[in-house]
Amino acid sequence: MATPATAAWDDLLKKIKSAPDAPTLDALEQEIFGRKQGLLTLAMKDLGSATPEERTKRGTELNRWKQTFTEAVERRREDFQSASLGSLATEDALDVTLPLPPKRHGHLHLIPEFIRSVEDIFGRMGFEVASGPEIETEENNFNLLNIPADHPARDSQDTFWLTRTGNPKKDMVLRTHTSPVQARYMQAHKPPFRIIYHGKTYRKDADATHSPMFHQFEALMVGKDISLANMKAVMTAAIRELTSKDATFRFRTGFFPFVEPGLEVDMRWQGDAAASREGDWLEIAGCGMVHPNVLTNCGINPKEWQGFAFGFGVERMIMIKHQIPDLRAFYQGDLKFLAQF
Ligand code: PHE
Repeated sequence: MATPATAAWDDLLKKIKSAPDAPTLDALEQEIFGRKQGLLTLAMKDLGSATPEERTKRGTELNRWKQTFTEAVERRREDFQSASLGSLATEDALDVTLPLPPKRHGHLHLIPEFIRSVEDIFGRMGFEVASGPEIETEENNFNLLNIPADHPARDSQDTFWLTRTGNPKKDMVLRTHTSPVQARYMQAHKPPFRIIYHGKTYRKDADATHSPMFHQFEALMVGKDISLANMKAVMTAAIRELTSKDATFRFRTGFFPFVEPGLEVDMRWQGDAAASREGDWLEIAGCGMVHPNVLTNCGINPKEWQGFAFGFGVERMIMIKHQIPDLRAFYQGDLKFLAQF
């Protein structure tokens, strides 16, 4: 009978002890214990043809090898198991003392955030918040504000008509400015008052500094002796608080049918003037003393009362504040843009 080639078997034992991974170990185990071709299996089978003395001797020998191999395979398998348990302990274990990953909080969009600060600043100056609908009558949006149907000022503000019957009290329009809130408020309240109102407005415009939908905030202050100087003081305080203490801006004469005299305010663009597409100055507001016709239209006696009104473009002020060259960025919902503020 074939005697086990001890040197080869020693070699196998070494291979088991140094098997690099479980599949290699499985293959070695198969090589030794395999049912048909396993070395040990074949050697055991051979015992059948041996003489009784030989069988006892060789049998004992083979049994010892069997035990040695079995133990070696088992031990090596344990090594692999504890190695993978070890990595579980370091990589996948839960360390309850670690700080949690930071929570990602959202925040208000630039526009509502700005509008909140508008309410806050004007609230401190004693202004009450008023409001009006985005769908307005032609009467409130234009006629009562001294803009009759044939007035050229309508061209710059002509907008989205919802109905067109020819009756200004019935015809509806998406409001082109927040000024119709003046008309609503003055018809319903007796002076003196100071109010602030804001919201969405609509015009047929679209480019880097015009959007078909944009936001305005506007103030109206009416009393016995409210002057242009009061208006400048209030506006200056608001501009500085809403943009920057060192903001540069200028008042220049401007025309709006609902004020007399009328002015416009420009702010100096703080970033690259070429990128602003408007040059050094961006128009941010219209203002003036409420036109006597408007007071009369709304049931207030202009001989007894006078006041000012001003309206700001919200997006444009934020553009100046944060040096945003294109106002369309406000509406694109790009988190990379919005999360910067
Ligand atoms: N309503 C004007 C506009 O949208 C701005 C304005 C408001 C001007 C109040 C004067 C007074 O352009």
